[in-house]
Amino acid sequence: MNILSPSILGADFKRLEQQISEVDRAGAQYIHLDVMDGTFVPCISFGMQVISSIRSCTDKVFDVHMMVQEPLRYLPEIVQCGADIITVHAEACTHLDYTLREIRKAGLKVGVALNPTTPILMIHDLLDCVDMVLIMTVNPGFGGQEMIPYTLNKVRALRKLCKNRGVDLDIQIDGGVTLANVRLCLEAGANIIVAGSAIYRGDAAANTRKFLKVFEEFEKK
Ligand code: DX5
Ligand code: ZN
Repeated sequence: MNILSPSILGADFKRLEQQISEVDRAGAQYIHLDVMDGTFVPCISFGMQVISSIRSCTDKVFDVHMMVQEPLRYLPEIVQCGADIITVHAEACTHLDYTLREIRKAGLKVGVALNPTTPILMIHDLLDCVDMVLIMTVNPGFGGQEMIPYTLNKVRALRKLCKNRGVDLDIQIDGGVTLANVRLCLEAGANIIVAGSAIYRGDAAANTRKFLKVFEEFEKK
């Protein structure tokens, strides 16, 4: 089944609770939370204190995307704030293998993210250490960018690799996803779709339902 993970980075922060419940009630399965440190990416977004306080707004899966240098430093705090999945960037971890194993040990689902130019070869030996691979379809750090087309080739190649190895892995796609290109993402092999501006520009509940409708039609074929 395909999963929608609206990114609250695109939301109106002064009414965050309402914006979360709009996508929750419209049927989104995950909530995507972008933590940025101003070092790995230029911006600073929000941290674990904010995630803790919005944890009570919804029961949906908290899908935390750490755009942070050496994220392992924050593992106890992330566990505490109620995250379900934590995704770390391969480029931000000096000891990636160790980092992924520590996250799994802490009892969270493990995701690894790859920037557009990071080859999937980097994680060929790590497929057993992760539950999800996030293929960045834009350079991380900002919402509202256009998808970089070649990144979909990585999704295709990764899906093929998983099939060949008999590994059942979630492939998440993040950046520039719109109602116009989401089908292409699903066809490429992604099954967890992050969308920020395409959800929160306009009516978030209506946009969520439109995405879920595309999923439904795709699954029928
Ligand atoms: C960007 C973040 C994304 C962002 C996506 O680096 O990781 O999750 O919110 O926003 P859109 O969907 O607008 O590209
Ligand atoms: Zn993200």
